[in-house]
Amino acid sequence: MQLGVCYYPEHWPESKWNSDARRMADMGIARVRIAEFAWSRIEPEPGRFDWDWLDRAVSTLAGHGLEIVIGTPTASPPKWLVDLHPDILPVTRDGSVMQFGSRRHYDISSPVYREHCVRIVEAMTRRYGDHPAVVAWQTDNEFGCHNTLPSYTQAALHRFRRWLAARYETIDTLNSAWGNVFWSMEYRRFDEIELPHRTPTDANPSHVLDFRRFQSDEVASFHALQAELIRRHAPGRDVLHNFMGFYAAFDHYVFARHGLDVAAWDSYPIPRTEVLPLPEADKHRWARTGHPDVSAFSHDLYRGVGNGRMWVMEQQAGPVNWAPFNPVPQPGMVRLWTWEAFAHGAELVSYFRWRQCPFAQEQMHSGLNTPDDELSPGGREVVRVGEELRTLGVSEDDLRCARASVALLFDYEADWVIETQRHGIDFDYQHVVFEWYSALRELGLDVDIVSARSDLRAYRLVVAPTLPILPDSVVEQIELGSNHWVFGPRTGSKSQTFAIVAQLPPGKLRTVLPSRVIEVESLRPSIRPMLRLGKVEGTGLRWREHVQPGAGVEVMARFDDGLPALLRRERVTYMTACFDRALLRAAIAQCARDAGIDVAALPEGLRLRRRGPLRFAVNYGDRSQGVPAPADAKFILGSSIVGPVDVAVWIEED
Ligand code: GAL
Repeated sequence: MQLGVCYYPEHWPESKWNSDARRMADMGIARVRIAEFAWSRIEPEPGRFDWDWLDRAVSTLAGHGLEIVIGTPTASPPKWLVDLHPDILPVTRDGSVMQFGSRRHYDISSPVYREHCVRIVEAMTRRYGDHPAVVAWQTDNEFGCHNTLPSYTQAALHRFRRWLAARYETIDTLNSAWGNVFWSMEYRRFDEIELPHRTPTDANPSHVLDFRRFQSDEVASFHALQAELIRRHAPGRDVLHNFMGFYAAFDHYVFARHGLDVAAWDSYPIPRTEVLPLPEADKHRWARTGHPDVSAFSHDLYRGVGNGRMWVMEQQAGPVNWAPFNPVPQPGMVRLWTWEAFAHGAELVSYFRWRQCPFAQEQMHSGLNTPDDELSPGGREVVRVGEELRTLGVSEDDLRCARASVALLFDYEADWVIETQRHGIDFDYQHVVFEWYSALRELGLDVDIVSARSDLRAYRLVVAPTLPILPDSVVEQIELGSNHWVFGPRTGSKSQTFAIVAQLPPGKLRTVLPSRVIEVESLRPSIRPMLRLGKVEGTGLRWREHVQPGAGVEVMARFDDGLPALLRRERVTYMTACFDRALLRAAIAQCARDAGIDVAALPEGLRLRRRGPLRFAVNYGDRSQGVPAPADAKFILGSSIVGPVDVAVWIEED
């Protein structure tokens, strides 16, 4: 459990570097990320490299015992490169070309840009690959940020046509897979196919889905180009990328197979809560803390993406600049977010950024230090965490997170399918998944967020909030295993090529849950069909299916108008609608208990989490809460009563 910081030596006079590095080391920071936007300083003119300043920055940091993470600077190509090759600029969905003057102004598919990336990454990795202080490499910065994916360029078009030809082989196969007879959309050759944008009404969803898959592959191959160079010239160093929270434009599980040692991600709990489609009351309630499940969700997802290895590369350390409203965090939150990240398995929590920058786009974004070099309130909290870590006295050896008893399936294609065909304006895949996750967390459960294609048999309970394209392996695992499964609506509804499944939804799931979805409806917010589940009364919302249950399927609950709401056959449960919060929690609690898992609703804002022998409680709420520790528990932080915006950690052997 280490601390880190993002540092931009090129932003500050060199006379400050030494004292910056000393103060970092003094406050317990172990790792510093540098250089990810520094291309114009590293290569000020084509082919002329200026390493001197970066050599000195690296040796200044290393001189204070700091370990260094170098970011490849490919998220911000310099002006000369854009002027030499204007066609590397990305093109938006509406066809306009993005211009130079901020960052991420490049097209991931551009062969010329890829060549230049290889050139700069090769030069950097050759220079610093075997430097003893350089312990890890980050590729690029936040792929897709600022809506730069998908990119609709000519280069993307050419590569997409090739991708399609490889996938379908003949144009007739593609025409029939996509259903192009509809509206005379048939093609005669692959080179007639366009990118799915600027069509008068919706483009064919099959076309859109394949384009999303293609774009996702493009991101992975772009990363792989860099990862291979890092492996070659910087052997033994960790390769990582800093992913974003709640961002699904490319398949991170596939990406992780292209050379990734650690899934790092950037944690901004307050602005994230602000921009998620959460109810206004929740945004207000958690405006200064972030929603209690927002960071945890991404921690649990990225721990899965990184196959157990997860870092927070950028942790919000004060107010930021990029949400519609940017409040100051409640005192104590920077510390709480840090401990929460460790609780969920983070090996490193690195703050964004060392010092607030008084110029350019992020001048309103705080850092650990004010622009005039005093520790900020967030910086002071980090000093405290540094001291706490020093006195913690636990061995790092057994701090791996054990497998949770619950797996939640997060699926990138599901996001693309639903975004392409929401059917109801408020059906947002990630929001729906988040509601399920939150329900599990409110019940005190640890959750692993994993791919639907992983081996799931060791989990006692597997939940899939929705999985429109159901992998065969899920049904096979249900049949072979002995665990419990819960599926939400729309599961199994679509084929690989985005058509309604031949036997009607829930498609392949019918093998284990014989039933037919005859009609579906999206519900305006004012239409809320009622139902009761035990003592809990609530409503369906957003989406409802009219299902005909087949042989052996028990209807566990019905809506007031008689339509089945909750179906079960043996170990498989199916929700025919989205449920409101209380109902969803009640339904999940019942399934968890049936799977042999203990659950108990936690007080508002309290969350628990286990890591190795450590048990963590974090309190996002504004009242003190007792934690469920045994009477003789050994507390290494806090006590059995955890105050508002506070943390407790105790040791509990299994
Ligand atoms: C991240 C980005 C950083 C910085 C930060 C501000 O998305 O990676 O470079 O812009 O946001 O919150």
